[in-house]
Amino acid sequence: MSEMLEKARKYEFIQGQQIKEEERPAFHITPYVGWMNDPNGFSYYKGEYHLFYQYNPYSTHWDSMHWGHVVSKDLLHWNYVPTALAPDEDYDKFGCFSGSAIELEDGRQLLMYTSVNQEKLEDGTVRDIQTQAVAVGDGKDYEKYDKNPVLTAKDLPKGASKVDFRDPKIWKGNDGNFYCVIGSRPADGSGQILLYRSKNGFEWEFVSILAKNQNRYGKMWECPDFFALKDKHVLICSPQDMKARKYEFHNGHNSVYFLGDYDANRCRFSKEQPHTLDYGMDFYAPQTTELPDGRRIMIAWMKSWDACVIPNSQDWQGMMTFPRELEIKENRIWQNPVKELENYHQNPCCYEHAEIEGETVLAGVEGRTIDLTVTLEDGENTIFSIKLAADSEYETSYIYNKETRLLEIDRTYCGVTKDVVCVRKFRIEDPAGLKKMRFILDYHSIELFINDGQQTATTAICTPLNAKDIYFFSDKKMTMSVEKHDIIM
Ligand code: FRU
Repeated sequence: MSEMLEKARKYEFIQGQQIKEEERPAFHITPYVGWMNDPNGFSYYKGEYHLFYQYNPYSTHWDSMHWGHVVSKDLLHWNYVPTALAPDEDYDKFGCFSGSAIELEDGRQLLMYTSVNQEKLEDGTVRDIQTQAVAVGDGKDYEKYDKNPVLTAKDLPKGASKVDFRDPKIWKGNDGNFYCVIGSRPADGSGQILLYRSKNGFEWEFVSILAKNQNRYGKMWECPDFFALKDKHVLICSPQDMKARKYEFHNGHNSVYFLGDYDANRCRFSKEQPHTLDYGMDFYAPQTTELPDGRRIMIAWMKSWDACVIPNSQDWQGMMTFPRELEIKENRIWQNPVKELENYHQNPCCYEHAEIEGETVLAGVEGRTIDLTVTLEDGENTIFSIKLAADSEYETSYIYNKETRLLEIDRTYCGVTKDVVCVRKFRIEDPAGLKKMRFILDYHSIELFINDGQQTATTAICTPLNAKDIYFFSDKKMTMSVEKHDIIM
């Protein structure tokens, strides 16, 4: 083990333990200590779910990317495993950037990541050189391949930049080969997704340009993912520098998906129009994996580069979303919290056809680690709203206007102390409007699943934990049903 890796492991072991459990979310992943961004290497390996993450143990800011590592048996309790990768080689000394994991034929786990180095130009400026590298291990300790990097500038198609070539997502094809998609910047300055193939996971060859941005959807496409779902193929990517269009593609840095058809013989993907993956303020760089039971599960970084504003704690920054199951319905991706969450339901509190008018509190409906479903029923109302994580000083509100079908999220009073993005509006996709809202609340976040998962909105909050009231509001008489469960770990 390199000195650098040993140092990180020792440091996180000592510092990570100083962080009190109640300073972390109850069931969302946080870095052992320091900074976390993208989920990496999300996979099922030897009976456990593995998740790695972009990690700087030494400060609560992005720097010197390592790979942190957690494992779980149920997707809710995650245990820290020592840092998997440190930027300790010449070819990755400026960071072990995002990547993915897969089990090899011989039972070892392969990690494929972007190795970052830098070069000095004649005018004295420096720029990144991004290549791809691999490491193999047993689920805890990993050894970098001695012939790294395995993909370099010579493996790029004509015009593609060696500065932006990152985030390999690997899978095993039906033909027995490994494949991976990698984000790249072509000569037009925007983004494209490259497809590579390998017989063994170590020797790779360029296959095709799987998708081109052509400056239509943001610029560089980061963190691609590509998989079959039902009878479609899905390409997910996170475009940088994206302009909002009406109520779609807010956040600057965005995560979008394209459905389409994949011709595996010709390695060509014909994609449809992109869609927003999540309408909240904190969602980026999602990664999926297929579980042994066939479910396709996604986890994303629950922060955003452009509105990276929710301070989590003095000792850690960054969280992952709750794992979500993906399905295709009506030619769109629908997302729902994994069903394992229900094993941790306690203290149910239900109201059927409760009548509300004006501001209403329902006895027993409160809390900060809860699974709350609100079904909107009949009413003459135009406005319906819910305030969560509330007391007389704090609240995060969800305000729905039936006439415009717009839902507004407002976290102005969640505890933020900077002048930053706090309001987001979007249109409810279903022409019948907003019927059902399922909120998954944890101490530092609110994830909303709309109309059984047709749309989602993920937002981090920084509200003192004793603000746990819930207020309902309707401008005219209406009825609703409410089901609340505490989530107790
Ligand atoms: C996305 C990203 C990736 C890169 C990583 C570096 O958030 O910029 O493209 O690999 O973060 O930490």
